[in-house]
Amino acid sequence: MKPKEILVFGASGQIGRHLLRKLTKKNFKLTVVTRNIHRNAYKLKSQGNAGWINFVEFPTLNNEKINQIFKNKDVCINLIGVLNEKNKSTFNNIHSLLPKKLAELSKKNNLKQFIHISALGIDDAIDSKYALSKINGETEIKNTFEKYIILKPSIVYSVSDNFTTMLMTMLKYLPLFPLYYQGKTSFYPIHVTDICEIIEKIIISEMSTETIECIGPEKIKFIEIVQTILKSLGIKRLLIPFPLFLGRFAATFFEFFMKNPVLTNDQLNLLKYDNIPSGKHKTNIDLKLNSNLKKFEEEINKYSYMWKDGGEFSRD
Ligand SMILES: NC(=O)c1ccc[n+]([C@@H]2O[C@H](COP(=O)([O-])OP(=O)(O)OC[C@H]3O[C@@H](n4cnc5c(N)ncnc54)[C@H](OP(=O)(O)O)[C@@H]3O)[C@@H](O)[C@H]2O)c1
Repeated sequence: MKPKEILVFGASGQIGRHLLRKLTKKNFKLTVVTRNIHRNAYKLKSQGNAGWINFVEFPTLNNEKINQIFKNKDVCINLIGVLNEKNKSTFNNIHSLLPKKLAELSKKNNLKQFIHISALGIDDAIDSKYALSKINGETEIKNTFEKYIILKPSIVYSVSDNFTTMLMTMLKYLPLFPLYYQGKTSFYPIHVTDICEIIEKIIISEMSTETIECIGPEKIKFIEIVQTILKSLGIKRLLIPFPLFLGRFAATFFEFFMKNPVLTNDQLNLLKYDNIPSGKHKTNIDLKLNSNLKKFEEEINKYSYMWKDGGEFSRD
């Protein structure tokens, strides 16, 4: 049987790197689209046997030739996303206009599925530009191509994320840690391998026209996430509820001076809203898309030792 041909955008990110291995193991043929083949291809190529992953470089996706790579493909997966805006990489361009264009090309080339990653907990976040752009992207896709799958994950974590690993670094070096909104915002962290399992099952089952909220097995407040990480690192830190104006001051400072700010004003706005299922869509649990959802504390214990003094020698 001819293997399925899959086009992947944004594969060099956390989810993409794990997904490539998962999909090549199932003998899907992948074409990875990247902005910089020299920076990304040598790392990603090792995720599959020779001939199963090809790379195409498009420094900008605003290129008419992009239609060519959709020819004879079965599935397009869009993992492109940004947490802050830079130059032309605006939320609107990346989360609304680009998904629309990829959905149009998927339709034009008769693909079987267009799988897009949006985000959980954004539906009510009207004061977040990130959230609004993701919602607009979902609407554009639904209006463009009926064979869509929109996945809306809560925080996706793993040893190669920018969330738990950044918290571990900050908690290791800072004597105290600020909590905004008293750390009460709720999340359902989902491990990256569980998200990849969902995508794999969706491709195999050829499901379409569905929006799925993707969650891990536990509802955890932000303060509990921090406390779990502290326990895992075997350290104690002062967790101090900070007034929002101090957060705004810090975020404005980071936005001005850092290339990739650790906190932005838009993220502060989003943090106000619980990152939990809306009840409007089915979840991965309703659809039985995971065999064994991973637990947050068990998983972070597997890599937190790298942030302890002594690294691997700190393990029992
Ligand atoms: N991680 C989470 O906790 C989480 C939670 C909810 C939703 N999501 C969504 O899930 C998707 C994947 O997440 P991730 O964590 O794997 O993302 P990521 O690590 O931030 O990677 C995103 C990818 O987007 C591409 N990209 C970034 N800016 C771009 C630009 N201006 N033009 C073209 N491509 C650009 C990059 O690919 P190249 O450098 O190869 O071109 C990069 O590999 C994103 O849409 C994200 O919003 C993630």
